[in-house]
Amino acid sequence: MKYKIRQEKEGDAAAIRDVVAQAFKGKSFEDPDDPVIVERLRDDGSLVLSLVAEAGGEVIGQVALSPAKIGDSPYLCLGPIAVLPGHQGKGIGSDLMGHALGVARVYGRDGVVLMGDPKYYSRFGFKRVAAITYEGEGADYIQVLPFGADPSGPLSLHPLLTP
Ligand SMILES: CC(C)(COP(=O)(O)OP(=O)(O)OC[C@H]1O[C@@H](n2cnc3c(N)ncnc32)[C@H](O)[C@@H]1OP(=O)(O)O)[C@@H](O)C(=O)NCCC(=O)NCCS
Repeated sequence: MKYKIRQEKEGDAAAIRDVVAQAFKGKSFEDPDDPVIVERLRDDGSLVLSLVAEAGGEVIGQVALSPAKIGDSPYLCLGPIAVLPGHQGKGIGSDLMGHALGVARVYGRDGVVLMGDPKYYSRFGFKRVAAITYEGEGADYIQVLPFGADPSGPLSLHPLLTP
């Protein structure tokens, strides 16, 4: 199946909401606010990057970046990332990840942080770093991809991304 990855454009908001809602449905970490995170980040001026995968004119995947901080280091937080259930397992999530990390690398921050299953994200180089502290829920799922030295200190995410 042919698809392309592109920057979100006006009119994508509902489709992005739908992709996240369908992908996260029934997951143990599902939160009712997940589908609206991207639009709320956008409204707040905190959406650094929002990419979609499009096939046949339909949005089938998405990934977003927003500002974060670890200790004194400026980071980017990657999430949500989602692919429609019918299109999962075909490399689209990896492709979205690759594009988002490419942008992150030239963005001028110290690395990327996310919360998710280490079994999936370790393939992209994400790792757990013990010197990162986090007060909220899900500390065990925090992983980073530092572009230089490992970060240390408290992680702060955009409040919309705090479970
Ligand atoms: C995670 C997600 C974005 C990956 O997109 P995708 O297009 O399916 O990913 P790819 O096809 O590039 O990679 C698929 C691989 O990831 C694995 N995988 C996907 N989700 C995984 C998870 N939660 N834990 C472990 N492995 C996972 C698949 O088993 C597959 O492994 P393989 O390459 O060894 O066969 C997509 O599966 C999704 O939307 N999942 C539901 C929402 C979600 O979990 N989002 C992340 C929240 S932290």
